[in-house]
Amino acid sequence: MSIKLRVALVFTLALAVAFSLGSWLFLSQLHAQLVTNTLKAQLTPYLRAANGPGGTISAPEKVLVQVISRSGRVVRHSTEAGTAPMLSASQLQLARAGLYTGTGTNDGERVYVAAERPGRSGSVVVVGSAEDRVVTSTVQTSTVALVIGGVVFVLIGGLGAYWLAATALSPVERMRREVASLSAQDSQAGVQVPRTRDELAALAGTMNDLLIRLHEALARQRGFIADASHELRTPLAVLGAELELAGRPGRSREDLVQAVAAADEEVARLTRLTNDLLMLARSDEGRLPVRPAPTEVKELLERSAERAAGRAGDAGVDVVVDAPDGMVALIDEDRIRQAVDNLVGNALRFAPAGTQVTVSARASGTGLVIEVADAGPGFPADFLSHAFERFRRPDTGRARSDGGAGLGLAIVAAITAAHGGTATARNGQDGGAIVRIELPGAPDPATRPPAGREPPGSRKPRG
Ligand SMILES: Nc1ncnc2c1ncn2[C@@H]1O[C@H](COP(=O)(O)OP(=O)(O)OP(=O)(O)O)[C@@H](O)[C@H]1O
Ligand SMILES: [Mg+2]
Repeated sequence: MSIKLRVALVFTLALAVAFSLGSWLFLSQLHAQLVTNTLKAQLTPYLRAANGPGGTISAPEKVLVQVISRSGRVVRHSTEAGTAPMLSASQLQLARAGLYTGTGTNDGERVYVAAERPGRSGSVVVVGSAEDRVVTSTVQTSTVALVIGGVVFVLIGGLGAYWLAATALSPVERMRREVASLSAQDSQAGVQVPRTRDELAALAGTMNDLLIRLHEALARQRGFIADASHELRTPLAVLGAELELAGRPGRSREDLVQAVAAADEEVARLTRLTNDLLMLARSDEGRLPVRPAPTEVKELLERSAERAAGRAGDAGVDVVVDAPDGMVALIDEDRIRQAVDNLVGNALRFAPAGTQVTVSARASGTGLVIEVADAGPGFPADFLSHAFERFRRPDTGRARSDGGAGLGLAIVAAITAAHGGTATARNGQDGGAIVRIELPGAPDPATRPPAGREPPGSRKPRG
């Protein structure tokens, strides 16, 4: 059932209930008023009977008359009224004080009454009636008028409610049609925002914001797939060429060994690339698993430095670790190791021979800050704001073989984000790149990692 129909139905029902209740109150008041007024008018001729001689009082059919003495006994009455007083003691007291109108009982039935004490006498004259034809017909006429009027009123109200709901909701239907006709291609399209400045205008605005974000995400996703395919194509092409060469007739054993070695290198590159892509895809889905555990930070950084020692030696660069002894933080050791390895790997590519790469850690407030700094050329200024984007490499004309796919920093950012932290890049005052990872790991120099963990250096570095 449509919302406008539901609104109209509920409104109509509420209107009908309210109207019926009002009408019922009005009719019962009207009835009571009419009866008591009629009875009051009928009371006057009998007031004299209070002082008259005993015996029955003659009264028209259906009119009950009683004269009740000071002691509460019926001293005179009409034929139908009987000798049981129509009023209770308290009602009699009210009647003695002035004119009383209301209900009483006769023969066990409820009757409308009017009672008054005539002059200074102690007796009370009561006139009662179970019903009154004039009154009943007036009430009936009013009832019919109210029912007809009520039906018309409720119907008009219901139709009005339907019209109002339909008018108020028409922008919703228009927006629905607009959204339905949108295609994944038209990045500019959105819904028309009503000029009403109401909830629907706000909804349209929010919907447009969402559409823009979805289009941006879609564009990013498409770019990601295009870049990933491009990056995968190169090693695959090299691999294909090597295998094709190796398969040619008349290749010597050395040629074959060389081809297998080259193919192995390309496979390693492909494996690394696929792992990186998988990791970023998981991070996009919010499924990058991090298992924070108390970790000795300095040991972690030292393992990273040890792993890079070979490459550092080749480049003539010193990797120095600067972190407080025994500082323990709640982090996922393997993931943070991977991030630090990426940063150290980058730094070693750019650090000139004879310089230092510093890997430092310190507590900062309730968090942990890890920094990798080198004395290389630093990031190109216009690249800094894009450094953590996927497949981003500065256009410095460097050959592709210089570096990787441009995923290393994106993975650092994904790991940091999975820990609830942030990664930033900047250039030092004296040149050189500095990448900082801020983690909410609450380092505590007083705590030590739980016993039974492997001593530093005993692990095989991950590939
Ligand atoms: N320490 C640094 N000094 C100067 N430039 C850097 C430094 N680290 C990274 N960059 C620049 O940022 C780019 C992106 O780095 P990122 O680690 O994301 O990718 P990559 O190293 O090129 O490839 P991958 O890490 O996937 O193998 C690099 O290509 C490089 O140009
Ligand atoms: Mg890198």
